[in-house]
Amino acid sequence: MQLQALYLKNFRNYADACIRFAPGLNIIHGKNASGKTNLLEAISLFMTGRSFRTPHLSDLISFGSNSFYLEAHFCKNGVDQVLKISSDGLQRKIVLNSTPLPTLSALLGILMGVILSPEDINLIKGLPSFRRQFLDLQIAKVSPIYLHHLSRYNKAMKVRNFLLRKQDLSTIDIWEEEMASSGAFVTLERVKVVEEIEKLGVPLQESISKSTESLQLRYKSPALHSKEIAAYLRAHYIKQRPREIEIGSTLTGPHKDDLLVFLQGKEARLFGSEGQMRSCVATLRLAEWHHMRLQSSELPLLCIDDIGISLDNSREESLYRMLADFGQVFVTSPKAEFPSLSSPHTINLGVCV
Ligand SMILES: Nc1ncnc2c1ncn2[C@@H]1O[C@H](COP(=O)(O)OP(=O)(O)OP(=O)(O)O)[C@@H](O)[C@H]1O
Ligand SMILES: [Mg+2]
Repeated sequence: MQLQALYLKNFRNYADACIRFAPGLNIIHGKNASGKTNLLEAISLFMTGRSFRTPHLSDLISFGSNSFYLEAHFCKNGVDQVLKISSDGLQRKIVLNSTPLPTLSALLGILMGVILSPEDINLIKGLPSFRRQFLDLQIAKVSPIYLHHLSRYNKAMKVRNFLLRKQDLSTIDIWEEEMASSGAFVTLERVKVVEEIEKLGVPLQESISKSTESLQLRYKSPALHSKEIAAYLRAHYIKQRPREIEIGSTLTGPHKDDLLVFLQGKEARLFGSEGQMRSCVATLRLAEWHHMRLQSSELPLLCIDDIGISLDNSREESLYRMLADFGQVFVTSPKAEFPSLSSPHTINLGVCV
């Protein structure tokens, strides 16, 4: 898959711009505030329908304008196509070639790709919810039934918490049964994807760190101490009822689980240096790209905002060298020199915007 060009009108700091891309590595450079992250944001909008920076569509409209319009020209399975997204800040209009797409989910899978951004440090340092979402999104891409179980679990838990607060236990076992069966499904799928991501991530972490660091991932859930997860959850919900009535919420289950990331056997969050944590985050996103690649006939896109942030020269060079295996890649950097690359395709935003 190849993104050939992007046309941006009244999008963030782009009043009217057309930017062409090369097939392999595209380095987008320019001063601070020149619009590098904004450009990746536009690409990510085509991949997911959402910005990785803001939940508000209105933030994307250039100050003083009423709407934005984006056009992506790309080639997929040998066919040239055009995808258009426009919005007045409230409604989003998406058109593929000349066919309007009725829903956001119809957009997913057209321009597939992964984004690594500075905010992803939350995958190591942030709340467990960031890591659970990282796993959930990857499983959801390949297993629609997973989303069914995840939402069934969350809905049943909402009712259970309501009943706990009302101290009405007359029907609580029905909801606990739903939580136990869907919760077990969610737990097992997450364990499986963690194993897959670890397998893909180990050689990536070795390459970035020049074989000085080994990566391990572990899904952390008390339910895994038991052979039968549904039975464990069921028994646990019953046992915890008196305590949970006091606080009005459920203390155990996949909504409290976490993904632990280890380097050389030590938890990265607690013992890793800034550069080691950044390397780990890059590894997780690159592993996500490989995971997506396994499900797709085309090479997904890869976007990296602020490449090299907190990485020493050796790690930054390793990362650049690895990118040769990732099809079409878009990286941003405030620097204009790339000593480790012979003839990179560079896009200088100083002359585009
Ligand atoms: N809705 C908007 N309308 C107009 N300009 C905007 C809008 N939203 C953000 N900007 C501006 O776009 C500019 C570029 O932002 P961006 O984050 O893309 O910079 P950058 O090149 O990534 O910089 P850095 O190197 O510091 O990360 C900023 O000055 C920002 O204020
Ligand atoms: Mg930026």
